[in-house]
Amino acid sequence: MGQYTASQRKNVRILLVGDAGVGKTSLILSLVSEEYPEEVPPRAEEITIPANVTPEQVPTNIVDFSSVEQSDDALAAEINKAHVVCIVYAVDDDDSLDRITSHWLPLVRSTCNSADGEPDEARKPIVLVGNKIDLIEYSTIDSVLAIMEDYPEIESCVECSAKTLHNISEMFYYAQKAVLHPTSPLYIMEDQDLTPACKKSLVRIFKICDIDSDNLLNDYELNLFQRRCFNTPLQPQILDEVKSVIQKNVPDGIYNDAVTLKGFLFLHCLFIQRGRNETTWAVLRRFGYNDQLEMCQEYLRPPLKIPPGSSTELSHRGQQFLIAVFERYDRDGDGALSPEEHKMLFSTCPSAPWSYSTDIRKSCPTNDAGWVTLHGWLCRWTLMTLVDVVKTLEYLAYLGFNVHENDSQLVAIHVTRERRIDLAKRQSSRSVYKCHVIGPKGSGKTGLCRGFLIDEMSKLLGKEFKTNVVHCINSVQVYGQEKHLILRDIDVRHALDPLQPQEVNCDVACLVYDASNPRSFEYIARIYIKYYAESKIPVMIVGTKCDLDERRQDYLMQPSEFCEKYKLLPPHLFSLKTNKKELYTKLATMAAFPYLRQFGLMTEDPNVWLKAGLGVAAATVLGFIVLKAISATGTHGR
Ligand code: GTP
Ligand code: MG
Repeated sequence: MGQYTASQRKNVRILLVGDAGVGKTSLILSLVSEEYPEEVPPRAEEITIPANVTPEQVPTNIVDFSSVEQSDDALAAEINKAHVVCIVYAVDDDDSLDRITSHWLPLVRSTCNSADGEPDEARKPIVLVGNKIDLIEYSTIDSVLAIMEDYPEIESCVECSAKTLHNISEMFYYAQKAVLHPTSPLYIMEDQDLTPACKKSLVRIFKICDIDSDNLLNDYELNLFQRRCFNTPLQPQILDEVKSVIQKNVPDGIYNDAVTLKGFLFLHCLFIQRGRNETTWAVLRRFGYNDQLEMCQEYLRPPLKIPPGSSTELSHRGQQFLIAVFERYDRDGDGALSPEEHKMLFSTCPSAPWSYSTDIRKSCPTNDAGWVTLHGWLCRWTLMTLVDVVKTLEYLAYLGFNVHENDSQLVAIHVTRERRIDLAKRQSSRSVYKCHVIGPKGSGKTGLCRGFLIDEMSKLLGKEFKTNVVHCINSVQVYGQEKHLILRDIDVRHALDPLQPQEVNCDVACLVYDASNPRSFEYIARIYIKYYAESKIPVMIVGTKCDLDERRQDYLMQPSEFCEKYKLLPPHLFSLKTNKKELYTKLATMAAFPYLRQFGLMTEDPNVWLKAGLGVAAATVLGFIVLKAISATGTHGR
C-alpha cells in the first residue's frame, strides 16, 4: 500500500533566493559538507540529494541564486521551475528582512502568476529562512510571524546558522515538507480552520473507521485506524493523552470515552497547527486522496486484466466485505436496508451506484416492503460486477475496502477463466451467468424477467412495466450449488432491426414468443436462424401466457417442430399465473453446461443419448445427471 501513502511527487526542487550576502551559498555548502565554508563562490552548483538520504525519501535538488551571475530572466525561470522557494534573510540585517515583503514575496507571486496563470490557492510555497542566528542574542521570529499572516503561501519559517550548522538540515526538511505535505490544501490560516475539502475528506474517513457506525471512534476503532494508516499500534498511554488533549480543547470532542467527529477534526487541526501536516496527509493518502484532495484514479480504478471470454465475479473476500458493510448499516437488524439505511451506507461515496427507488426493486430480490435484503444486496453487487466491474472497484474503494482489508480492492474480484477453456474442459468454472431474453413486443419478456425476483409471480399479471430496468438478477440452485442468473431484457425496437453482437452474446439465450398470439413465433424463429443456429450459445424457446388459449402459429413450422428440427429442447411453456420457477433453474443449468449443445445433446431422442454417451463419458457422471434433469423439467407444463 506504500504507493498510496506518499505524495505523487517524483522529486523536490528547492530554490534559495534573497539579498546578496545573506548566506545562501554558505547554507547550501554547509548542508552538503556538514561544515562551515570560510570561502564561498558567488553561486553553488546545483546539487541533487539522493532519495535514500532525505527524510521523505524523495530525490531533492537544491538550487542557488546569485544576482552577480544571473539575470532577472534567469531568476524568473528558476522560480518557475522550483517547487518551493526559500527566501533567505540575515537576522542581523534589517534591510534584508524588509526586502522580503518589499521585493521577494511580490516577485515570486508575480513571476508565478504571469507564467502559469495559476489561481491564488496554487501559489508557490515559500519558506522564510533567517540565517546567521549565531550573530545575535534575540530572535526575529515575531516580525516574521507578522509577514506569515499576510502571505498564506508561506508554509514555515526557521532561524538557522550556516556557521554553527544550527537548524541547517531542518531548514531543508521544512522546504521539502512544504512541497510534499503542503498546508494550504488542508488549512486556512486566516480562519485557523481546516479547508472545506479537507473536512469533507476527513468526515468520509471518520465514517469508514466508525465500524459500528455509532458516530464515535472507540479505542478499538482508533487502534485499527492507527494500524491501517501507520502500520503501528497505538500505545495505550498515547491514546489517553490524545483523548485528554481533545477533551481539554473541545469538550464535546469526547463522548463516552470515545472520539466524536468534532474531536477527530480538531485533532487534525491540531496536527497542522503543530506543523505535523505529514500526519494528516498520511491519513488522507491512505484513504486514496491525491495532492488535490481528490480520490486518485489508481486508487479508484486499479488496472484489472480481463481476457476476452472471461467474466468478472465477486471473490469470497469481496462478498465477505459486502456482507459486513450490509450488516453494519442494517441498524434495526431486520435483514433489509431501508431507503434511509441505504442512503447512510453510501454516504462515503459521491452518490449511490444505483437508484434505490427506480432500480433496486426491479433488479434484485427485496422484502415485501421493496427493501433490499442481504441476498438481494449481494445479487445487486454481483450484477454490477459482471456488467460494470470498474464501477464495482470504484465503489469498493469509496466504501473503504482498501483500508479495512488492508489490500487493493482487486482481491475482491475473481476473473473467471476463458469460456473456451470451460468448453474444452466441459465444466463451467463460473457462478454467474447472463441470459438474454429476446422476443417480439408484448410477448411477456419483462414479466418473465421480473417473475424471477418475487415469490408470487401472479402479482405481475396484467401489469404495465413502465421503467425499463434492463437487468434482473437472482440466484438458483444448480445441482446443489448456488448460481447467479442475470436476465437481460433485450428491447426489440422494430421486428426487422438487426441485433447487435453484445445483444446476441450471452451464456444462454431465452427466445420468447406469446403462445396466445399466432403472429408471435415467427420473430424468434428468424432470430434463432439468423443469430443462434450456428453459434455455441445454448438456446431455450419459451412460449409465454400458456394459461391463455394456445394458438396455432402462423409460421411454416409449429414451435415444437421447429425445436425438433434444430435439436433444441421442446418449447418451455410459461405463465406468470401458474407461478412455476423451473424455467430459471433450467436456464441456469443450460448456461452452466454449455457443451451439451455443442454435442447435440439437447434433445430427447434416446439415440442421441447413446452417441452422446461416447462423447460425454469423460465429462463425468455429472453430465448425465444434468441431461436427465433438463429432460425432466423440459417435459413440464406441456
Ligand atoms: P550572494 O551570493 O552574494 O547573493 O550571497 P550569499 O547569500 O550566497 O551569501 P554567502 O554565502 O556568500 O555569504 C556571505 C557572507 O556571510 C560570507 O562572508 C559568509 O561567510 C557569511 N555567512 C554566511 N552564513 C553565515 C552564518 O551563518 N553566520 C555568520 N556569522 N556568517 C555567515
Ligand atoms: Mg552566493
